[in-house]
Amino acid sequence: VKVTVELGARSYDILIKPGLLENLPKWLADYGLTPEKGLIITDDKVDPLYGYPAQKRLLDAGSKYPRTIVPSGETSKSRESLFRIYDDAIEAGLDRKALIIAVGGGVVGDVGGYAAASFMRGLRYVQIPTTLLAMVDSAVGGKTGINLPQGKNLIGAFHQPSLVLCDLNALKTLPGREFRAGLAEVIKYGIIYDPVFFDFCEEHLTEAVNGEIPVLEHMVGRSCMIKAEVVSQDETESGLRAILNYGHTMGHAIEAIAGYGKYLHGEAISIGMVFASRLSVQLTGLPSAVAHRIEKLFVLAGLPVKAPDLNWSQLRKAMGVDKKSTAGLPRFVLAKSIGSVEFGVPVEEKILSDTWDRMN
Ligand SMILES: NC(=O)c1ccc[n+]([C@@H]2O[C@H](COP(=O)([O-])OP(=O)(O)OC[C@H]3O[C@@H](n4cnc5c(N)ncnc54)[C@H](O)[C@@H]3O)[C@@H](O)[C@H]2O)c1
Ligand SMILES: [Zn+2]
Repeated sequence: VKVTVELGARSYDILIKPGLLENLPKWLADYGLTPEKGLIITDDKVDPLYGYPAQKRLLDAGSKYPRTIVPSGETSKSRESLFRIYDDAIEAGLDRKALIIAVGGGVVGDVGGYAAASFMRGLRYVQIPTTLLAMVDSAVGGKTGINLPQGKNLIGAFHQPSLVLCDLNALKTLPGREFRAGLAEVIKYGIIYDPVFFDFCEEHLTEAVNGEIPVLEHMVGRSCMIKAEVVSQDETESGLRAILNYGHTMGHAIEAIAGYGKYLHGEAISIGMVFASRLSVQLTGLPSAVAHRIEKLFVLAGLPVKAPDLNWSQLRKAMGVDKKSTAGLPRFVLAKSIGSVEFGVPVEEKILSDTWDRMN
C-alpha cells in the first residue's frame, strides 16, 4: 500500500508492506534520496534487529552512513541524545544535502526528526518506523521533538519527512504489549473517522494480533490514510487535527499521574477513549450500545478500560495542566456516532467525576 500525504511542496509517500528494509537502497534511490552523506538514528534494542542491517545494506550499495544509537525508551527524547546526534553529524561531515534516517519507534522518530529539523536549519529525513504506534501515528504528520525535565515535547518543530517506510515484518519482533498499545491508535481512527474501518478492526482484530500481513497492511494503511487526510487539512493543529486527540485528554492525565511508564500511551488512551465514549453518550448523543461496542473492542485487544487505582482529584488536576485545555473546564473530543466526532466540547465537573466513578 502507498499513502501520499498531500502537503503541496512538502508532500511525501508512506510505503507499507513487508520486506521494505531488505531493499532499502532501492527505495531511497527511487525517491532520489541518495546523498553521499547521511546518518542513521536508532535505539539499542532496535539496532541489532534493523539499525545495523540498514547500515549494512546501504554500505553494500556504496553509502557509508554511520549510526547514532540512543538508549531504548522515552528518556532518549532528551538534550543528551539530540546533542549526540549533532556531534555525530559533525563528525560524519554532514552537509545541507545530507540525509537523516530514523529507524525505530516514536522515540527515535521524534528525536531523529527534530535533529533533522534543526541541524543546519533542516536536513531531509526518512522515517523507518518499527513499532505499530510509530507506523500509524508518530511517523505521519511531521511533528518532531524532545522532552524537557519540565514536560513532554516542550521542544519541537514541524518537519515533514521525505519518505516513510513501514516494513510490516518489523512488527514480528515487537513485544505483544507494545503491539496492543499501537492497536489503540488504530481503533481510534475508526472511531473518529471511518465506521467501515471500525467494523474491519472488530472483525479482524485477532488476525492482526496473530500477525497476518494482509490484515496489518490494511490496518496500517487505512490508519495512515486517515491521519494523512486530517493532517493535510490542518498541518499545524489549528482545528481539525484536534480530533486525533480522542481519548487523549484523559489519557495524558493518566500517563502523568500514574508516573510515566506505568501505562503505555496506547493503554492510557484506551481508558481515555472509553471515558470519552461514556461522556459522548451523555453529551453528544452516542448510543450507549455503541459505547459498549467500543469498550468491547478494547477489551478484545487486550487493552485496559478502567483504572480504579487512580485518584479522581489527581486526575482532574492533571487535566487542568494539559496544554490542550484552555482555562477552566477541560475540553474533550466527543463522538456523535462511530466515524463522526466534535472537538472542543467543555464538560462540567460533575459529569466528569460521575462518569469516572461509574467506569471504575
Ligand atoms: N510525532 C508524533 O506525531 C507522535 C505521535 C505519537 C507519539 N509520539 C511519540 O512516540 C513515542 C512513543 O513511541 P513508541 O510507542 O514507538 O515507543 P518507543 O520508540 O519507545 O518503542 C517502544 C519500545 O519498543 C522497542 N522496539 C521498537 N521497535 C521494535 C521492534 N520492531 N521489535 C522489538 N522492539 C522494538 C523500542 O526499543 C522500545 O523499547 C513517544 O515519545 C511519543 O511522544 C509522537
Ligand atoms: Zn496518541
